[in-house]
Amino acid sequence: MRTDIVHIGAGELTYEIRNIVNVGEKLQKLGVPVNWENIGDPIAKGEDIPSWMKEIVVEAVRDNATYGYSPTKGILTTREYIAEQVNSRGGTQIDSGDIIFFNGLGDAISKVFGFLKRTARVIVPTPSYTTHSSAEAAHAGDRPVTYILDPNHYWYPDLEDIENHIKYNPAVAGILIINPDNPTGAVYPEHILRDIVKIAEKNDLFIICDEVYQNMTYNGTRAVPLCTIIGDRVPAICMRGISKEMPWPGSRCGWIEVYNGHRDPMFEKYINSIVNAKMVEVCSTTLPQTVLPRIQSHPEYHAYLEERIRRYEWCSNVAYDILKDVKGLLVNRTNGAFYMSAAFINGTLNHRQSLPIENEDVRKSVAELVSGPDVSPDKRFVYYLLASTGVCVVPLSSFATDLQGFRITLLEQDKERFIGIFKTIAASIKAYIESA
Ligand SMILES: Cc1ncc(COP(=O)(O)O)c(C=O)c1O
Repeated sequence: MRTDIVHIGAGELTYEIRNIVNVGEKLQKLGVPVNWENIGDPIAKGEDIPSWMKEIVVEAVRDNATYGYSPTKGILTTREYIAEQVNSRGGTQIDSGDIIFFNGLGDAISKVFGFLKRTARVIVPTPSYTTHSSAEAAHAGDRPVTYILDPNHYWYPDLEDIENHIKYNPAVAGILIINPDNPTGAVYPEHILRDIVKIAEKNDLFIICDEVYQNMTYNGTRAVPLCTIIGDRVPAICMRGISKEMPWPGSRCGWIEVYNGHRDPMFEKYINSIVNAKMVEVCSTTLPQTVLPRIQSHPEYHAYLEERIRRYEWCSNVAYDILKDVKGLLVNRTNGAFYMSAAFINGTLNHRQSLPIENEDVRKSVAELVSGPDVSPDKRFVYYLLASTGVCVVPLSSFATDLQGFRITLLEQDKERFIGIFKTIAASIKAYIESA
């Protein structure tokens, strides 16, 4: 090429949650029966969509209007429905104009970070859901600016770390919160959220709060919505969607709610640039927006969601009970969403450890995979676990963190199989650590 065509942030775009699938598929071809515990897609893990929900979608499919474009910000009646829900919580008040639909939150995330000035940074958690950290890093063409989620303190945000980064890095313009969190499964107490809002106010920053798992909490916890504590001074973007809750990830439908959008002229201009970007693209998917209010206000919706939540609660406790006493591993009970992150205690892993692999081709293939210079210790463990047992998890170090560990989903529907998977992991960790 006569001129460099690669974007400055291209190297920052990684998504190990799907990369690991390439490795899994390769080993599957060699005969390894793979249990896919890597991706947060309830449908892929066998979630049955209730017939009343399908009926609503079928009815909408019969309506010609659902085949057309929708308004740039999204269907007005649906935005009015969402605004009413936000306002009924009694906190900050918004109207339909403060809501913008996207083709899934993935689209919202790439626009929200993509239209930030290159030199303005949003501090993101570490470990971090990669779509956020990669998009933020790619927009800046630099490594993400991160604050610690502390595995020794329920994976809660380290407020001192946030304050220090803000103090010593004037480029920080915003703070990202994911609550409930992916990949840790933590649900933050109200006082921590209030403290983050105070830090934002004191330093004239805005907040991005990803609440896609908002209504999926358990073990007696509740995710306090940002709209109830944001007050009227700090500009914020709240992200929600239907991928996880309904669940309908294939619909590609999510939206942002803008709080205190007129509070700061620069923030207002920034939000307008995001709307204009959507306008250039025309609009987002029409069908899921059409059915959203009908599905969420259906008399059976809450019971259906509740039943799923009780299942995740059961999984979170079984997983915790099996892994909590494994030597060398640091785990916290998951209280929201459907992921668990386990971290290895520093110094537990090395590059000599392995697990027995019967099939010679699989053994050779893994030996090749782990021989590269940049294979982190947890990636090595994950490859051996996959090849030896068929359990496919994601290395924790691929979530923008130096911590070594793994993330696993709590989506397996078959209870016996779920218990079996976690017992296999526990036994494999022991064998792996003892192997060298
Ligand atoms: C915290 C978080 N935000 C956003 C998304 C993306 O959601 P969507 O399917 O709407 O793109 C995910 C998906 O796993 C997620 O975990």
